[in-house]
Amino acid sequence: MKSNIVMPDVPEGPIPRHIAIVMDGNGRWAQKRGLPRYRGHIQGASILEDVVNAAIHFGVERLTLYCFSNENWKRPEEELNALMALLKEYMIEQRPTFMKSNVRLRVIGRRDRLPVETLREMDETIRLTASNSGLTLALAINYGARQEIVDAVRRIVGEMLDPEKRDAALKTAGVDSAEKLVDENLIAKRLYDGDAPDPDLFIRTGGEQRLSNYLLWQLSYAELWFTDVLWPDFTPEILKEGIIAFQRRHRRFGGLNKNDSDLR
Ligand code: FPP
Repeated sequence: MKSNIVMPDVPEGPIPRHIAIVMDGNGRWAQKRGLPRYRGHIQGASILEDVVNAAIHFGVERLTLYCFSNENWKRPEEELNALMALLKEYMIEQRPTFMKSNVRLRVIGRRDRLPVETLREMDETIRLTASNSGLTLALAINYGARQEIVDAVRRIVGEMLDPEKRDAALKTAGVDSAEKLVDENLIAKRLYDGDAPDPDLFIRTGGEQRLSNYLLWQLSYAELWFTDVLWPDFTPEILKEGIIAFQRRHRRFGGLNKNDSDLR
């Protein structure tokens, strides 16, 4: 649901190209109100449009949102059913908005165990928005970062065991053994969203300070920012706070900044 909020502006400065968010705290939001946990997910889904619009407004190019992890299958059936239904509805309801806002939808994660109707609507929205050129919204659904790395390694091994693919790759790379083909670049390319730039900023709501098996490869150099706000209470203003925190950080990527000698 879109609200009529006035979008705040962020101060001049670097804007993270890619923000990854763990939307934590839905269950607690509901429990605090004496509601079943799934009502927190419904509320959490209802603020997504404002968050996506805020990201567009701030000039962010990509948002990756953790919607459902590989481990979430352990949750009670009522909550799982509600989440799967919510994901399906979201894929249908948001189509006109994505088209109007030029948003391209991507989904990262494993397809197994997801209900066929959820997959069908998801695939349709991905197909429909594929040529949109504005913000890319990547939803992590049935996702786990270790599983993603396992899947990337499986793909690479499969390619190496296929003589035609292996020989073509050896020729393109100009090397003489399969081992030499495997480097950081190849592994990164075989991740689910292999063309995406790494996230610059990681945000987790709900007060916990963990990565929870999220984008472990891609977050290597991300700035981490945590807020106690529960996801259903998240607003564009809080996204702005996260971006301001990012602007105050000195990103060094393991090297030194120009003025670092002054800091020590
Ligand atoms: C964590 O909160 C959140 C999730 C497991 C699901 C996140 C899903 C949504 C925001 C809505 C669905 C998304 C779409 C795109 C329709 P929690 O339940 O673990 O919270 P708790 O820590 O308070 O228990």
